[in-house]
Amino acid sequence: MSIIEVSGISKEYKISDHKGGLIGYINHIFNPKYKKFTAVNNISFKINQGEIVGYLGENGAGKSTTIKMLSGLLTPTNGIIKVNGIVPYKNRIQNNFQIGAVFGQKTQLWWDLPVFESFKLIGNLYKMTQKDYEKNLNWIVEKLELKELLNKQVRNLSLGEKMKCEIAATFLHKPKVVYLDEPTIGLDVLVKENIRNFIKEYNKEFNTTIILTTHDVKDVEELCDRIILIDKGKIIYDGNINSFRSKYSNNDFLTIFKKETISFINKIKLDGIEVAEESKNYIKIKFNQDKISIIEIIEKFKKYYTILNVETNEAKMEEILKEIYRGNIDVD
Ligand SMILES: Nc1ncnc2c1ncn2[C@@H]1O[C@H](COP(=O)(O)OP(=O)(O)O)[C@@H](O)[C@H]1O
Ligand SMILES: [Mg+2]
Repeated sequence: MSIIEVSGISKEYKISDHKGGLIGYINHIFNPKYKKFTAVNNISFKINQGEIVGYLGENGAGKSTTIKMLSGLLTPTNGIIKVNGIVPYKNRIQNNFQIGAVFGQKTQLWWDLPVFESFKLIGNLYKMTQKDYEKNLNWIVEKLELKELLNKQVRNLSLGEKMKCEIAATFLHKPKVVYLDEPTIGLDVLVKENIRNFIKEYNKEFNTTIILTTHDVKDVEELCDRIILIDKGKIIYDGNINSFRSKYSNNDFLTIFKKETISFINKIKLDGIEVAEESKNYIKIKFNQDKISIIEIIEKFKKYYTILNVETNEAKMEEILKEIYRGNIDVD
């Protein structure tokens, strides 16, 4: 059952329309003119309880604007959003009880308090019972390795430590839905891994629905089965991540390790495949999984070679996204 229903939402920002330069600026003060800018353009999707969805797109694509509308911080210009039956921007308080959100560098902790005092305040704000609070906090503290941090003041934490506490604060009241807008930005590899594992385990344990925006493709590959890709405020792909990869990758590679050191390549019909590299011990083949299967390629080569081993390298998600952003791949 879908817990998030987004139907035809758009967001227009009013932006100033002055001619530039000092004169333009001064004119604008006395005679302000505005124009509309559509940051999110007629977006619809549904998300089921327990899904982790990667919400992807270039800088400025409209990700944060969408997340802000979902969490009730912004009201859509058009369309409607329902999260667990609640319209977030109409019933913000009610909605706040069922969601958690991380927005990049913004903090929901109190700078001058020790971490555990911030957590206590959050527990109170969300009216958690002592038992629930302790149980969930212990679980989180263990998984995010926060024990040593609890007595430290938030202002003294490193970026990575602070983000872990931010994540803890977000999940503390057991929200049904969590929005994570760039939660791993600027963090080192170990902290990222810790946060990813936490998200994965929390989702598994509590079936929390999670929408994640990130520039780190590894976050997406490790956490999300589904991605929604947006470009200039519009959805250009919504679906399974593996289907996406195989649909838009045109360079998968298969390396065939062989016994024979001589070449029989000229005997093999190469339609649908390309030899990217050939050496005494192996042949590296470029192919497209949509056009020819690995099995079929192996069949071709088996006739001439004793195959010792094969290795595949799937096209990298990151490469595909880059090509899409550059306009080299058309997404329909
Ligand atoms: N408050 C605002 N007023 C005017 N334009 C905005 C505002 N917030 C964001 N934008 C513009 O809307 C577009 C989408 O922004 P955003 O949702 O933050 O993108 P993303 O999170 O994908 O990088 C950008 O072009 C951005 O400059
Ligand atoms: Mg953003």
